[in-house]
Amino acid sequence: MATLKMSISWFFFLQILFSLLSSFAPTNVQGLKVGFYDKSCPKAELIVKKSVFDAMKKDPTLGAPLLRMFFHDCFVRGCEGSVLLELKNKKDEKNAVPNLSLRGFEIIDNAKAALEKECPGIVSCSDVLALVARDAMVALNVPSWGVETGRRDGRVTNINEVTSNLPSPFDNITSLITQFRSKGLGKKDLVVLSGGHTIGIGHCPQITNRLYNFTGKRDSDPNLDTEYAASLRKKCKPTDTTTALEMDPGSFKTFDASYFKLVSQRRGLFQSDAALLDNQETKSYVLKQTKSYGSTFFKDFGVSMVNMGRIGVLTGRTGEVRKKCRMVN
Ligand code: HEM
Ligand SMILES: *[C@@H]1O[C@H](CO)[C@@H](O)[C@H](O)[C@H]1NC(C)=O
Ligand SMILES: *[C@@H]1O[C@H](CO)[C@@H](O)[C@H](O)[C@H]1NC(C)=O
Ligand SMILES: *[C@@H]1O[C@H](CO)[C@@H](O)[C@H](O)[C@H]1NC(C)=O
Repeated sequence: MATLKMSISWFFFLQILFSLLSSFAPTNVQGLKVGFYDKSCPKAELIVKKSVFDAMKKDPTLGAPLLRMFFHDCFVRGCEGSVLLELKNKKDEKNAVPNLSLRGFEIIDNAKAALEKECPGIVSCSDVLALVARDAMVALNVPSWGVETGRRDGRVTNINEVTSNLPSPFDNITSLITQFRSKGLGKKDLVVLSGGHTIGIGHCPQITNRLYNFTGKRDSDPNLDTEYAASLRKKCKPTDTTTALEMDPGSFKTFDASYFKLVSQRRGLFQSDAALLDNQETKSYVLKQTKSYGSTFFKDFGVSMVNMGRIGVLTGRTGEVRKKCRMVN
């Protein structure tokens, strides 16, 4: 009995200590910090987590598009929720070509509606995206990480900004490194975040060139394993524009380091995946992750997601906290 009481008071002591420490969590240069809503909306993170877990219980494949949504938000105009905005004339990011499989917007809406009920006008849509991306991975058994919050929402979305800001599956390593660098991300972030392709799907048109007529001589991409190319040709006829392809076949619903094994075997789906072997630093990371005892992927992933979440954020008095994520106030 005494020990139980002891452990209960220890429990509360530790909890108080923890909340004290987290209220001292450092604010970074941009004004983001872990636990930004601890005082203004203490249940915020719980509410988001519940929305994500409820939705993913019904449909676990939502994890992939929810992760990708955060990437698309952050790379176009920074992490400020512009990927969610809808314009009457449809000239918004959602209607740009690379949107293809973006889905799960209703989960963002549900989480936001629950947040507005609990604490109106406090939690931004861009923070919802960041929290949802983390919770979607946690729902897939990825170890959690502290998400920095305090972002505010932008008021602009432009269909023409998507293609120029998002890397393409046809990009080479030089171009990928340059594009990540222009967003403040390094080579390590590039290779680690590419590991997001351990879940989800792509589509035939993204690899038709690798399978047929790669250099105009009716050849295939020499950087694609020949057996794998043959099996992909069975799935993708030259004019196929719709067939979906698992990026990590057999394990496309499991978030693990198997993506790196595939890439090392020249079985990465896109040229942009294969390209990770063309730079000394990214290649050595790929190879290190193929050894199960040496894999630091989960830990690295959280760190790089935090880095990505800092791209072009609006904080302080800039931007606004949208009432509804699909429209500006
Ligand atoms: C390095 C540059 C990247 C390129 C060129 C790229 C390209 C692509 C393409 C073309 C698709 C297929 C979309 C479709 O057919 O519907 C895709 C899917 C995906 N990407 Fe990336 N991506 C990159 C980086 C990232 C990053 C940084 C993340 C997140 C950390 C990410 C997460 C995903 C996920 C989860 C999917 C699957 C989506 C689904 O199943 O609905 N990608 N990516
Ligand atoms: C993606 O863009 C197309 C038009 O290019 C549009 O028809 C489709 O609804 C968009 N997808 C989403 C999820 O908004
Ligand atoms: C990589 O791609 C860029 C842009 O498409 C191109 O200018 C460059 O020549 C390519 N580099 C290599 C080494 O192929
Ligand atoms: C292959 O590419 C070359 C050069 O771009 C083109 O002239 C030829 O028609 C293509 N062949 C097929 C079968 O698509």
